[in-house]
Amino acid sequence: TLSKKVMIVSPSVLSCDFGNIQRDTEMLDQSQADWLHIDVMDGVFVPNISFGFPVLEAVRKHTSKVLDVHLMVQDCSPYIETFKKAGADWLTVHYEACTHLHRTLTQIRDCGMKAGIALNPHTPISVIVPLVSEVDLVLIMSVNPGFGGQKFIPNAINRVQELAQLREKTNASFLIEVDGGVTMDNAQALKSAGADALVAGSFVFQSPQPSATITALKNC
Ligand code: DX5
Ligand code: ZN
Repeated sequence: TLSKKVMIVSPSVLSCDFGNIQRDTEMLDQSQADWLHIDVMDGVFVPNISFGFPVLEAVRKHTSKVLDVHLMVQDCSPYIETFKKAGADWLTVHYEACTHLHRTLTQIRDCGMKAGIALNPHTPISVIVPLVSEVDLVLIMSVNPGFGGQKFIPNAINRVQELAQLREKTNASFLIEVDGGVTMDNAQALKSAGADALVAGSFVFQSPQPSATITALKNC
């Protein structure tokens, strides 16, 4: 069925040209992107290190869009307030990286941000059941986190569907976001499965017209 719902598109800054971060941020700011996705990697939770607060602050300076920050950081709890100060609006933490997840989600909301939980491809959807009223967004990883440009894992579509069913059953209202390998080849299927927001890095930045690609994803 054709839904009238418009997709939230969150291009991933990880795929931009860091030598031209102001230019690329301004391009995203002027595009139809709803959010800008910011991937923070610590080299512990994931086998890669991306960037931290100074880069987040630099992006914040050049856009008024919502900053959708995805922490791939082991035990991020000491840094939550610093992320708020650096400009984060939505802060998503990994289920697999937080020992005291309920406390962490509460801290995020207490700082005035929206709180998200990200789930790796192997993590059962049902782990979020005890936290449905603590969470504003659930991020389904459609690749193993750590790198841009990886291949989409098709089972993510089933997982989005399962999560959407769980949301309905529990009367919850969190948004469902999908991250990793998103292209026009899977965007519609993800939307029909129940996704509200799509992250796209390499698909946007490697396309000839990034801002037209963002529009296409928005209208998927
Ligand atoms: C992967 C990151 C993603 C990444 C997506 O660990 O969480 O946000 O930037 O990049 P693409 O769209 O290229 O898979
Ligand atoms: Zn991400």
